[in-house]
Amino acid sequence: MKINKVACIFFSPTHGSERVARAVAEGLARRAACAVETLDATCAPLPARSFGAGVAAVVAVPVYGDAAAPIALERLAALRGEGAPALAVVTYGNRSFGHAAHDLARALAAQGFDVVGAGAFVGEHSYSSPATPIAPGRPDAADLAQARSWGDAAARRLLEGRAAAVDATRLPHPADAPEALQGFAAFVGDYARRQKEHPVRIAATADANRCTGCGACVAACPVGAIPAGAPATTLAERCIKCAACVKVCPAGARRIDTPFAPVLARFFNRPKPNVMLPAPAGAACPEPHKE
Ligand SMILES: Cc1cc2nc3c(=O)[nH]c(=O)nc-3n(C[C@H](O)[C@H](O)[C@H](O)COP(=O)(O)O)c2cc1C
Repeated sequence: MKINKVACIFFSPTHGSERVARAVAEGLARRAACAVETLDATCAPLPARSFGAGVAAVVAVPVYGDAAAPIALERLAALRGEGAPALAVVTYGNRSFGHAAHDLARALAAQGFDVVGAGAFVGEHSYSSPATPIAPGRPDAADLAQARSWGDAAARRLLEGRAAAVDATRLPHPADAPEALQGFAAFVGDYARRQKEHPVRIAATADANRCTGCGACVAACPVGAIPAGAPATTLAERCIKCAACVKVCPAGARRIDTPFAPVLARFFNRPKPNVMLPAPAGAACPEPHKE
C-alpha cells in the first residue's frame, strides 16, 4: 500500500506514551517518505475524524491498573479508521501491562482500524521520584531506537503489502521474580482491606509555600482538576493521579502521596524489555533491557 501520511496519536500526561509514539511514527514516516501529523488527546477529546487506507496510524496510551487508561480510550473514541492500518502501543511503568494492549487494539478495531502491530513499551512510572525510582528515564535512547526501528519495519511491511492483523493477546509478558509478585500481591491485598475499612482518596496535592502560581500544572492537567485561580489546590474528585502536574511543576510544589510508590520501587526495579508484535527480527523471547 502507499502511505501518504503517518498519524501520530496519543494521550500522555507524563509524555512517555508521546515519546514512544513519536519515535515509532518517525520510523514509519522516514521509510515511507511522508509527513507526520500529530494528534494530542491528552487535554481534550479528539474531534471526529476519518482516516482511510493511505494513512498509517500510531496510537499510544498509558497503562492504568493493567488496563488501557479508560480516559484515553474515551478521548480517541471519535476517530474512525475506515481501513487505516494502526500500530497499538501502550506504555507501562515496569510492573505489568496486563490486558492494556488488547484493550487498545480492540477499541481501535471496533473504530475501523486494521491493527497490524501492537507493542508494550516501558515508561518511567508516573509515581517514580528520586526517593522511589521506578523505571526512571524510560523510555531511554535504546527504547526510542527500538521504537523507531519497529516503525521502520512496519512501514516496510505496509509498503510491500505484507502487513497482517495481529492478536495483541499474544504479546509476551516479561517475567517477574516470584518474590516480587508475592510481595506486591500481599501489599495490594492489605491495601484493599484497609481501603474497605477506612477509604482514603489519593489525589495530587500542592505545597502552597513552594507554588509560584506559574500555572504550568493548570495547563498540563488532562482533566481540569487544578483551578486557574488557585493552582495550589486540587479538585480531588476530578484528579486521575496521572502525575502530569507533579512532573511539570518547576518548583517541585506538587506531589502524589501514594503507598504504591515505595512498593513498586522495591519490587519492580529490574528494567523490563519492550515487547512488540510482529516481534523485531531475532527477538522471539523478550530480551532483558540494556541500560
Ligand atoms: C493511575 C495509574 C495506574 C497505573 N497502573 C500501572 C500498571 O498497572 N502497571 C504499570 O506497569 N504501570 C502503571 N502505571 C504507570 C504508567 O503506565 C506509566 O508511568 C506510563 O508510562 C505513563 O504514561 P505517560 O507518560 O504517557 O503518561 C500507572 C500509572 C497511573 C497514574
